[in-house]
Amino acid sequence: MSKVKDHTLSAKGEKELEWARRNMPAMAAIRARFAKEQPFKGLTISTALHLEKKTGILLETLAAGGAKVYASSCNPLTTDDTVAAAMAKKMDVFAWSGQTNDEYYFCLNSVLDGKPDIVIDDGCDLIGLLHGKRKEGLAKIKGACEETTTGITRLRAMEKAGKLLFPVYSVNDAYAKYLIDNQIGTAQSAVEAISRATNSLIAGKTVVIAGYGWCGRGVASRMKGLGANVIVVEIAGTLGPHESGMHRALSALYDGFRVMSMPSAAREGDIFITATGNKNVLDSQHFSLMKNGAILCNTGHFNVEINEPALRKMSSKVEDMKDNVVGYTITGGKTIYLLSEGRLVNLARPSGQGHPIEIMDGSFAVQALCCEQIAKAKKGALKPGVMDVPTEIDNAVATLLIESRGVRLEKPTKEQIEYAESFDEGT
Ligand SMILES: NC(=O)c1ccc[n+]([C@@H]2O[C@H](COP(=O)([O-])OP(=O)(O)OC[C@H]3O[C@@H](n4cnc5c(N)ncnc54)[C@H](O)[C@@H]3O)[C@@H](O)[C@H]2O)c1
Repeated sequence: MSKVKDHTLSAKGEKELEWARRNMPAMAAIRARFAKEQPFKGLTISTALHLEKKTGILLETLAAGGAKVYASSCNPLTTDDTVAAAMAKKMDVFAWSGQTNDEYYFCLNSVLDGKPDIVIDDGCDLIGLLHGKRKEGLAKIKGACEETTTGITRLRAMEKAGKLLFPVYSVNDAYAKYLIDNQIGTAQSAVEAISRATNSLIAGKTVVIAGYGWCGRGVASRMKGLGANVIVVEIAGTLGPHESGMHRALSALYDGFRVMSMPSAAREGDIFITATGNKNVLDSQHFSLMKNGAILCNTGHFNVEINEPALRKMSSKVEDMKDNVVGYTITGGKTIYLLSEGRLVNLARPSGQGHPIEIMDGSFAVQALCCEQIAKAKKGALKPGVMDVPTEIDNAVATLLIESRGVRLEKPTKEQIEYAESFDEGT
């Protein structure tokens, strides 16, 4: 039995879903095939995903494939209550916007009460629960999919500690996902949300972006396009075998941005955007250096990138200004504005509306096809741990996305394939 904010909003939500459905051709193709082949017949799928119109299309695609679906959100602020009401007519939904922490966990627990075979997570809270308080659900789980960078970081830590007990597809790490979703999607939706919340002009402003990963570099490029003076802040850490904060900083420099440390950038910025997946990237020592009127927001997964408790502690007055904007008056009389409580600015309602529909057509196509892989896998074929998305799925989604936009690529000729595979032993 669903729990949503207001069931009478369902007609409006259905209109939202119809708008998304018309603009998700890759999902339409997958849904048509799933409806015929029924890959999820007899299986239950529980999800914790930002519950809005594009997610609704993923959920109905899984249901079309024969799954019984239980849906919750992965964030207390990001549910579209109209869509939640519409989806509640078709499946069990536990989600509403503006939840307390207890309500948020009530919803996660409720979707686990459905006894899932497969889970789809965004940030790893649901998978975390299954390994902790809801261990009894572990035995039935065939596998899971994780949507975002921060969730994958948590899963890799669990795997390293020998504590990850079922297979999880790292959907985030599909090239078709991070290239399009993290980079292009976050960029447009963050710019839209900041503009909607503040109604401020971007041109001529100094915008400080912390983190020049997939999300940060997209936001930097769009802000530059709108006429902002962009500063990038990176950190001297290792990210992987061929990647580090130093490489990212170099890449930002060569893309034409000023790069500096946060204490230097803090004095110059008009707008600060964190995109790191890290903690306390903006902290008390930075707040006290900032200009009066500085605007702070976050696009990283959790609300820990901006140290809000520290900002609150150093404030003599904390005032709700308008939707998604709170003013903090700190020592010396300066006011700093925090958007969306420091949560994902591009998703926190009402100013954050999430990624553009076409972006999620790609990300959710990867999700749907990975769920199908899990459903079809023979018992024991998938081992516990974080799994890469198979290249065939990555390529299939990229193909669906470009072909549904009318682009056809030529295949390499036999001669070209032979040339690429040949090597010259010298004369
Ligand atoms: N807002 C959205 O819709 C959305 C979409 C996708 C991912 N995400 C989230 O955004 C975050 C970033 O994702 P990504 O794919 O860009 O990750 P990434 O790993 O590609 O990039 C993160 C970057 O931040 C840098 N960094 C880490 N700590 C820092 C610090 N203290 N100061 C400055 N830079 C620092 C790292 O060196 C790295 O270059 C994650 O939390 C991810 O889950 C959000």
